[in-house]
Amino acid sequence: MAIRNIVTEGDPILNKVCRKVEKFDKRIWDLLDDMKETLKVSNGVGLAGPQVGVMRRLCIIDVGDGPIEFINPTIVETDGEQEVVEGCLSCPNEYGLIVRPLYVKAKAFDRNGNEFEIKGEDLLAQAMCHEFDHLDGILFKEKVERMLSPEELEEMKEQD
Ligand code: NI
Repeated sequence: MAIRNIVTEGDPILNKVCRKVEKFDKRIWDLLDDMKETLKVSNGVGLAGPQVGVMRRLCIIDVGDGPIEFINPTIVETDGEQEVVEGCLSCPNEYGLIVRPLYVKAKAFDRNGNEFEIKGEDLLAQAMCHEFDHLDGILFKEKVERMLSPEELEEMKEQD
């Protein structure tokens, strides 16, 4: 396994629509392993293909229960709303207030090409929306209600 460089905002790769994964082969497995390692050392919640320079529809999400791999994911159902503070490994030290669904049901494929269904609430629902958006070249900053100033972030930390 290897740690990959994370692409940051300004790189046009983050604004492109990714292609579907067609072959579930060792190349994809190695990539997913590297992404898991990279996410772990970055202390992030999620990491998508284009963030490590790969224009493929795959991502990793770990909300604290261990990493989940998503290949060619699609959202099939959402419900409710949550207003949350969100950031992105590709936009270091920037956070915004965003409205995300409270509940998301999605379908995706695992690394062996088997389709699975997953239901998530709260942070998992938020993370699925955020990471799947990356696969369509969309950054959270395009969807925020507003970005938070450093002072506001500091105040929020104090309240926690
Ligand atoms: Ni992100």
